Amino acid sequence: MKSITEVTNLSNKKILLRLDLNVPLNGDVITDTTRIDKILPTLKFLISQNTKIIIISHVGRPKGKVINELSLRPICRDLEVKLSQNIKLISKNIKELVSKDLFNSDDEKIIMLENIRFYPEEEKNNQQFAKHLAALADIYVNDAFSCSHRAHTSIHDITNFLPSYSGLQLDLEVGALKKITSEIKNPITCIIGGSKVSTKINIIRNLIPKFDNIIIVGGMANNIIKYMGNDIGKSLQENSSDSIIKEIFSLSETKNCKIVYPKDVIVGKSLNGTPQIKELNKISPDEMILDIGPKTINMIHNIIDESNTILWNGPAGYFENPSFANGSIEIAKKITENNKSNKIYSVVGGGDTVSLLNNINSINDFNFVSTAGGAFLEYLEGKELPGIKALN
Ligand code: 3PG
Ligand code: MG
Repeated sequence: MKSITEVTNLSNKKILLRLDLNVPLNGDVITDTTRIDKILPTLKFLISQNTKIIIISHVGRPKGKVINELSLRPICRDLEVKLSQNIKLISKNIKELVSKDLFNSDDEKIIMLENIRFYPEEEKNNQQFAKHLAALADIYVNDAFSCSHRAHTSIHDITNFLPSYSGLQLDLEVGALKKITSEIKNPITCIIGGSKVSTKINIIRNLIPKFDNIIIVGGMANNIIKYMGNDIGKSLQENSSDSIIKEIFSLSETKNCKIVYPKDVIVGKSLNGTPQIKELNKISPDEMILDIGPKTINMIHNIIDESNTILWNGPAGYFENPSFANGSIEIAKKITENNKSNKIYSVVGGGDTVSLLNNINSINDFNFVSTAGGAFLEYLEGKELPGIKALN
């Protein structure tokens, strides 16, 4: 992997820059700008080298269709303000775009292509699409560590058609995670939450041999609660996960890793509903699990106290509604407390988790903050991520 900072003679080169600007949005409002702020040094570096920049990113999961609510427009505006520079957002069909359409005036230095996941070819790692994108530029830079676990066109296949380099933030994250994983101290506890169940459930299996405790909260815990014979009502869940859960529990025994899941929960009748504490066997068909309960918080606090390292990705509940944010906040508070007294080393990752910690002003109390969620967990698995492998 070679960093773009090691390349000389970048002047006037057209750089295809893959970023992960997948920030949480509430309508047009960006509720957490961490992923944008972290890549500013890369943009400033490329500007200082007098390059022409074509930004590619996705936001959300439009699944190959144009969805106006998932436009990069608000993100483009935020970047313009932060860089004090015009950025032209190209909404024209990328597949009809040719190199001569771009950078026609001298003051046009940065352009942004509209959400790359509006094109079904992106997630298919499509060679034609990769060639087409490559034809727009001279050099490719991946500064989207948090997306590098996806073998998608603008992360993976594109590197076959352009000289390809890593960006500053990707260098920083990979460097830090490499160091952390080589110096890690037992007992290690990994807390996994969030709503991307299908992404994470398979990762757990590979994390079991590496850790002492895996605490499962958020969406994935719902499947376990159901597997244990409870009704989970309208809760978020993944279909046909029983065999993987069975495997997780049997592997955890042979590998001496404790799998911890909620003992009690907070339910609501809707995302805006009134919170109510429930025992696992008392959830009604019209309720959904939206947070962990007090007994669970207590249990997690004790495990944090017995750990030397905490790795955390994914909130414990639907924290966007303050009624269901308590579990996540209590986890954050305990880690922060133990971190301040130097009892633990703590690493946190993921767009939503970072957003939560920013909301409660706790982000600086962790030893390392990764922008990545799924990619962070896959890195912990010890796998070479497709996007990183492609740069090597
Ligand atoms: C993330 O938020 O983890 C990345 O942007 C990847 O998003 P994805 O899980 O939709 O691929
Ligand atoms: Mg995310």
